[in-house]
Amino acid sequence: KQSPVIAPSILSADFARLGEDTRKVLDAGAQWVHFDVMDNHYVPNLTIGPMVLKALRDYGIVEHIDVHLMVKPVDRIVPDFAKAGARSISFHPEATEHVDRTIQLIKDEGCEAGLVFNPATPLSWLDYVMDKIDMVLIMSVNPGFGGQKFIPTALDKIRHVRERIDASGRAIRLEVDGGVTPDNIGAIAAAGADTFVAGSAIFNAPDYADVIRRMHAAIGG
Ligand code: DX5
Ligand code: ZN
Repeated sequence: KQSPVIAPSILSADFARLGEDTRKVLDAGAQWVHFDVMDNHYVPNLTIGPMVLKALRDYGIVEHIDVHLMVKPVDRIVPDFAKAGARSISFHPEATEHVDRTIQLIKDEGCEAGLVFNPATPLSWLDYVMDKIDMVLIMSVNPGFGGQKFIPTALDKIRHVRERIDASGRAIRLEVDGGVTPDNIGAIAAAGADTFVAGSAIFNAPDYADVIRRMHAAIGG
């Protein structure tokens, strides 16, 4: 298992004060910034793109920005995010024509590559890419919106991914996204996750540092 990382999803941040709010959540103890990209095509919502990522870099956010692409097609937009300053880029395998090619493209652009699994997407997409990917992202809600409830069957899926990562012997991160709270994060970590995305649980709280502290305490990190 990799060292635990809390990655607040800025989907739930104050978009009118995005730089400030992002700085605030990092200063409150978060390690990464989770950057949700939605295209009103692959998912029924529209969010932010490479220009906003670049603006955060220019504002002085130097930490790991973790891009979660919920877009179709994928390849065309990858270089733009890499140039804007993404550190990791994850995509949904069913949203691209050639999964191996997209992984290679992300790596050639100098980023870490992640594969994202919706609640009903089978793990067989991992079969021939375990030697290449840097991260597996398990969705514990259907993608498109923040503030949804954690789907409990995700825990079993996380356990299966943990086994596959351990068997691979590679340093692959296991990230979980959707409905993560201080109350369920302990069980999610126990199932094998090491990287935790949380949007509404952090940004809707009055005290970011307090929520993040409680999350770290629950995962023993
Ligand atoms: C959902 C996004 C998530 C979402 C998480 O499509 O990928 O990152 O913002 O938000 P919460 O933590 O509120 O479920
Ligand atoms: Zn996400």
